This record gives sequence, structure tokens and C-alpha cells, in this order.
Amino acid sequence: MVEPRKFIEQQIKSIKETIGDGKAVIALSGGVDSSVCAVLMHRAIGDKLTAAFIDDGLMRAGEPAQVTSLFRKRGINVRLVEAQGEFFSAMKGLTDPEEKRKAFRNTFYSVLGRVVKEENANWMVQGTIAADIIETKGGVKTQHNILEQIGIDPQTYGLRILEPVKELYKHEVRAVARALKLPASVSERKPFPGPGLSVRVQGEVTPERVEIVRRATKIVEDGMKNVKSFQNLAILLSDKATGVKDGKRLFGNIIVIRSVMSKDAMTARATNVPWNTLKKLESMILKEIPEVTHVVYSLTDKPPATIEFQ
Ligand code: XMP
Repeated sequence: MVEPRKFIEQQIKSIKETIGDGKAVIALSGGVDSSVCAVLMHRAIGDKLTAAFIDDGLMRAGEPAQVTSLFRKRGINVRLVEAQGEFFSAMKGLTDPEEKRKAFRNTFYSVLGRVVKEENANWMVQGTIAADIIETKGGVKTQHNILEQIGIDPQTYGLRILEPVKELYKHEVRAVARALKLPASVSERKPFPGPGLSVRVQGEVTPERVEIVRRATKIVEDGMKNVKSFQNLAILLSDKATGVKDGKRLFGNIIVIRSVMSKDAMTARATNVPWNTLKKLESMILKEIPEVTHVVYSLTDKPPATIEFQ
């Protein structure tokens, strides 16, 4: 790759030429790829960019406020799209992981399509990176035909796709993020699944169950900041277990702590977390989340397990 500052300069010039007087929308998640694209786009076209942050109700604690304020401080036109209700209704009653993912995806694209139309945009920006293209061609990921997915026929609508970092690999995107002076919370951000905490709630995804896993996630992520790992997570099982809380028997929830070491998420090893760290996490989870009665640690590598539980 060219030197990050040179890449930034070239991209800004090329985006300006490509977009001209047009308007663009980007779905900003706060992950490193979409964040880098949003900043590059803003430097090139300013207010003609709308960064849509879709609040699906499945983000981690404080994430919507942190992401929107970070980019607004940089002068970016961020539109917070409150769509929690739509996502929870779409997933209501579903317990099968693939059905839940499908419901999430359909809702995401329908919300995004609406934003694109409301903003009268003629460009849609995507944070596709080189590995995404390789995996799509290799059949690892499903073909990413975003226009069709957001319910827009590009011929009649005149919408086009721009992918400013499609030639870069993850470590190069991170280098560009640092050169753009994005904080380490963005440039060094650990992976987080697109469908958010919904893939970490086994069984039905309800606001109450997401809240349990959200609180556990915060405890696990904060408490493992100093543990070298690729990803740290908390999962809420659909099974329950009897415990005793405040002197009373309670048929409560089970939280799984999972931490893995990995390079590219294709394979992973369960992290050798010190027992004391695990015990601290466990006691905090039991103390701060009244609905939880048992905490367990996942020992299984990938393969045979996957990193997420769904
Ligand atoms: P698995 O669970 O398949 O996860 O071992 C591999 C990596 O991908 C992330 N992941 C996702 N990312 N959309 C995403 O953008 C998804 O639906 C999704 N599912 C899993 C996971 O967090 C891990 O880093």
C-alpha cells in the first residue's frame, strides 16, 4: 500500500472528482472501516455527506452516544436513526440463529434504503475492504449486492456505490485511521458483529434479554482490557440454572464468558485467562446483574466451535 498520508490525499481528490455536486450516504457503525470512509468522505465533500448511524437497540453500552458524538465533533453530518422498535419487532418470537440474522439483515436494509431516499442521495458509500471482496469471490461470504438489498433499482433511482477502502487490508485501514487522527478506540477497535448483541443472545431477542448481555459485555470487556486477546465476549444462554440470591432460590440466567486469540477470525484459540481474572468477572456479573445465577467460561477453540455462539 502507498503511505497512509499519500493514500488519504489521493482518495480525497478522487472522491471529489467522482461525486462532483452529488450527495452521499454512509451507514456508520463506529467500526474502523466505516469510520475511515466517513472521515475521508467528509474531507472530500463536507456537508454533502450524511453519515447514518442506525440505532438497532443491539449495540454495546453507551455506543450510540459515543459514536455519534465522536463524529459530530469532527463536523460530520451524523443522522441518528432510531430504529430499535423495528429490529425488535422483526426478531420477535424467533429463536433460530439464521432466521434471526435474516430478520436483522432485512430490517437493516429496509431502514437504510429509507434513509437513502429521504436524503435524496445519489451515492451510497460502503466500507468494503480487500478481504471482503476475496471472501465474496471465494464463496465464504454471500454476494454483497447492496442496492438490491436496500430495495433500490440503481437504473431507475440513479444510485451508485463508492467503496473508498476496497483495496486495503485491515492493518492498512488501521494505519489510515491513525493517520486521520481517529482515536485508538476506533483505529484499534476489536471486531464486533454487524447484527450486534443479537448474535450473543441465545433464543428470543427481547430488549430485556439484550440488556442482560449488554451489562455482562461491559463487565467482560472492561475487566479484560489488559488480557491480550482478539475478542472478548459475553453470551446469554437460553437455558436457565437454579441459584440462591438474597437468601432465595432463583431459577436465573446463565452467562458464558468467551475470549479468543486469533489473527483473522478464521481460526481461534480460547484464551488462557488467569483464574483470578475470571473469578473477578464472575463475581461482578453476579453482583451487578440480578437476573444471573451462573457464570461459565468457554474452553473451545475454532474449529470446532465458532467464535460467536450463533
Ligand atoms: P464466527 O462466530 O463465525 O465469527 O467464528 C468470526 C468473526 O466474525 C464476527 N461475526 C460477524 N461479523 N456480521 C459481522 O459483521 C456477522 O453476522 C457476524 N457473525 C460473526 C465475529 O465477531 C468474529 O470476529
